[in-house]
Amino acid sequence: MQDLGGIVERALADFAAAPDPASLENAKARYLGKAGELSGFRPQGSPEERRAAGVAFNSAKQKIEAALEARRAVLAEAKLSARLTEQALDVTLPGRGRARGNIHPVIRTWQRIEEIWRSIGFEVADGPEIETDWFNFTALNSPENHPSRSMQDTFYVDVKDAKGLPLVLRTHTSPMQVRYARIHKPPIKVIAPGRTYRVDSDATHSPMFHQVEGLWIDENISFADLKGVYTEFLRRFFENDALEVRFRPSFFPFTEPSAEIDMKLKGRWLEISGSGQVHPSVVRNFGLDPERYIGFAFGSGLERLTMLRYGIEDLRLFFDGDLRFLEQFP
Ligand code: DAH
Repeated sequence: MQDLGGIVERALADFAAAPDPASLENAKARYLGKAGELSGFRPQGSPEERRAAGVAFNSAKQKIEAALEARRAVLAEAKLSARLTEQALDVTLPGRGRARGNIHPVIRTWQRIEEIWRSIGFEVADGPEIETDWFNFTALNSPENHPSRSMQDTFYVDVKDAKGLPLVLRTHTSPMQVRYARIHKPPIKVIAPGRTYRVDSDATHSPMFHQVEGLWIDENISFADLKGVYTEFLRRFFENDALEVRFRPSFFPFTEPSAEIDMKLKGRWLEISGSGQVHPSVVRNFGLDPERYIGFAFGSGLERLTMLRYGIEDLRLFFDGDLRFLEQFP
């Protein structure tokens, strides 16, 4: 007859010592398995003795089974709570925020310009940055080989247009005057902001820069109208209702008369835009009769407007991609 008490004791100790479900099942096999310590039970002796032995055996087996179940439950619980701890979310941790970009100061100026001119009744147009010689120069009164072309140092593209002339990266937004006026009927009130290119690079010039062209064509308008809307634009752009603006005689091949627009900032007059009455031969290139239609145009630099608005001294800051600079324009 086995020592049932000893077996129960050892089984309980082994189960308690099993660190994980696999070792617990191994321990179970040692006691309850086919070849385990409880197998081969053969009660002997008188019927009373056999009955008593049977009762003792069953009670020992039940104790072992109960201990096994209890240990299984403990190990399963431990496993679950280990997993919960492992996968726990610390809801008090700060979020892993995604860094937000912001709009480049020059593009911000572009957006403001569109907003302000739209509110004054101007359309916004867009056009190609790779231009034909005709739109960029000839239609604007700078014939081939004319010295006025040398006002703008040009990037030519190694591709020729239908006239056999090389295409150019537009040196100004002025070709948009011609493109727009040729497909719209007066009255025409439009601005065309966009990228422009010149072979030029220093603290105030960059090979790629931005301009906004303005064009107003109608029957009975005068320089006073241009002065009125442009002054309104500058006052809104610089958020200064008292901003002083003056028109100073100048020269552009595509306007006659021509003027520089200056504004007064901290007691100094600063040049902000070219402008003028559209030259009659340019009006003709619009496909319009210069005897009937008169027009005013302007072309302003977006970098310059941005520099004056924010007090930026060096144009190159716009193109360096330095976040310490760019993050100052949230
Ligand atoms: N296109 C000229 C430039 O890039 C600027 C300009 C001057 C545009 C006078 C105009 C204008 O429309 O009337 O220097």
